[in-house]
Amino acid sequence: MMKEKVHVPPIKSQGIKTKLVPWIKRMMPQPYTGRWIEPFMGTGVVAFNVRPQAAIMADTNPHLIAFYKALQKGEITPDKVRAFLQKEGAALLKEGESHYYKIRERFNSHHHPLDFLFLNRACFNGMIRFNRKGGFNVPFCRKPHRYAKAYITKIVNQVAYVYALLQRYDYTFLCQDFTKTIAMAGPDDVIYCDPPYIGRHADYFNGWDEDKEVTLFRTLKEAEATFILSTWHHNDYRENPYIASLWGGFDIATCAHFYHIGGKENHRNPMVEALVTNGRFTPTQKENLVVHAGCKASYTSRNLKAAKNFVKLHPDEFMVIRGR
Ligand SMILES: C[S@@+](CC[C@H](N)C(=O)[O-])C[C@H]1O[C@@H](n2cnc3c(N)ncnc32)[C@H](O)[C@@H]1O
Repeated sequence: MMKEKVHVPPIKSQGIKTKLVPWIKRMMPQPYTGRWIEPFMGTGVVAFNVRPQAAIMADTNPHLIAFYKALQKGEITPDKVRAFLQKEGAALLKEGESHYYKIRERFNSHHHPLDFLFLNRACFNGMIRFNRKGGFNVPFCRKPHRYAKAYITKIVNQVAYVYALLQRYDYTFLCQDFTKTIAMAGPDDVIYCDPPYIGRHADYFNGWDEDKEVTLFRTLKEAEATFILSTWHHNDYRENPYIASLWGGFDIATCAHFYHIGGKENHRNPMVEALVTNGRFTPTQKENLVVHAGCKASYTSRNLKAAKNFVKLHPDEFMVIRGR
């Protein structure tokens, strides 16, 4: 099967859904004329690959929103990004990690979107993490030669891809809580939700708990729009308890991630991801979901043991495990 090209956005983060993009695209209702509503935008990788003509992109992290607003207004352009990274990258090479920390201090005082980009692409593991006062606190990746020519070109191309999209289509970027964003959706819209996982990556802008999960459930249950929710389903040790307690009444598709170790595919405690939806699929869409790697299967969401065995036997398969 041909691998689908996924465009990686300029700002990266630990929860980025690059791998899930082709799968999420298969969940889209067809035809679809409404807006794409993304209350937990993060890096924006999903919308930037779905390429809706109109979208509302929101997040509580103001720095993500500010970056894309600046790109949309032309305050940031691919050329400006190249010039900026060349200048700051040369200083990083000359001065070493003290320059990274100088930019980090500058960003924490002035919040300039280009400083955010610089830090995001030169910090440890491309993480986004803020301390209790809202200050960016990820350390340097310890590579003073980070901004080599090829790396800058790669980032500039990523910026250019989104820049072109924002000039062409009608996207609105908003810094707000997910409840406000979901309330903006109408019956023709598609809401894609990718909330933080409980207990993981919690930071100043990114905390998540049971109350929020329940509020999200209630809000989506009432929504007139089609929703698609990303969450985790299970790994070898644990099942996501909210699948049974909250989300089990909707259609759920699951997909396992496999690790590549020494060129081999390895089944090492994969996190099985889930997409939950209130959408009503056409028969063709269901086919597309389950036949993704040439195999069909169907399970109820309670048959988790069978689902796990299936995953072990058929790496990379996608399956619809519950149909209403
Ligand atoms: C898992 S990430 C989304 C990742 C995104 N789908 C991607 O592929 O890059 C979750 C996002 O939700 C945001 N967030 C956390 N709490 C929120 C809330 N109450 N309302 C809106 N956004 C929130 C975080 O800032 C973070 O960017």
